Amino acid sequence: MQVAAIRKLTDRIAEIELVASGGGALPGWQPGAHIRVSLPEGGDRAYSLIAFDGTRDGGDIFRIAVQLEPEGQGGSRFMHSLTAGDTLTVTEPKCDFPLVADAPVLLLAGGIGITPMISMAAELAARGTPFEFHYAGRARNAIAYSGELADTFGPALHLHFDDEPDNALDLKALIDGLAPDAHLYVCGPRGMIEAVRKLAESAGVASDRIHFELFDNAAAKLEGDTPFEVELASTGQVFTILPGRSIIEVLEEGGVDLIYDCQRGDCGICQTEIVSGTPDHRDVVLSDAEREAGKVMQICVSRAKSQRLVLDL
Ligand code: FES
Repeated sequence: MQVAAIRKLTDRIAEIELVASGGGALPGWQPGAHIRVSLPEGGDRAYSLIAFDGTRDGGDIFRIAVQLEPEGQGGSRFMHSLTAGDTLTVTEPKCDFPLVADAPVLLLAGGIGITPMISMAAELAARGTPFEFHYAGRARNAIAYSGELADTFGPALHLHFDDEPDNALDLKALIDGLAPDAHLYVCGPRGMIEAVRKLAESAGVASDRIHFELFDNAAAKLEGDTPFEVELASTGQVFTILPGRSIIEVLEEGGVDLIYDCQRGDCGICQTEIVSGTPDHRDVVLSDAEREAGKVMQICVSRAKSQRLVLDL
């Protein structure tokens, strides 16, 4: 694909419009879908597609928004360095965050987690399905698309700002007030998803009514991260995982064939059994009980508290 246009939405968020190299219609997509963009140094990044109306079929532009992470691993810096005319390799759209049919919906977006929610809200509005749309950001000037969102979704939209306590997002009140048949969709950083899951569990909301997508680089290096070893139980091979690298990245470079998808810690596809060692869980898939049991882990984002993990690989 080719970059058709790039514009700043906030000091950290840029919107990028992509068209097919050579022009023409693009594949249709479901609300909540994403594409993956290949990075020049290898690997890729997932970005949700944005549409404020129902024109997801037969369109000729893919619109994404990317938040610059100066301390990240370089994907967002590369995306922010693009200019019109640059060429990218992009996958077809895929949706891991589909809307259920015919149920009222509460949409909760945190920060750049707003991006998949826009097409979902547009679809709900087009269907005539009742929905509430809450979007929280650090401050007013950190909120992307505030004018377009207000114009498109009117009273269904509620904006919240962390630095305005009177207007902060009250997750507990929203979840306690959830209608018995309503579904909850949340997209944002790990802390927000964990808080929503805990509150929903306490409020007795069935887990099949909670849908979430992590919008965070959970594999990013955290202060205090140290190297650890991963031993494959099948062959005895040992790999060293340095801070800032994921188990999947290192094992794949070593020729190990692995199954995974999101690489963010929210799909559960890469879940792997632990033979010995103590994991440092960084996903949003496992329940508290599963974390404590320490028998499985998501190897795309989670690390180790022990010096070595022996994995059933
Ligand atoms: S690949 Fe999705 S949780 Fe690891």
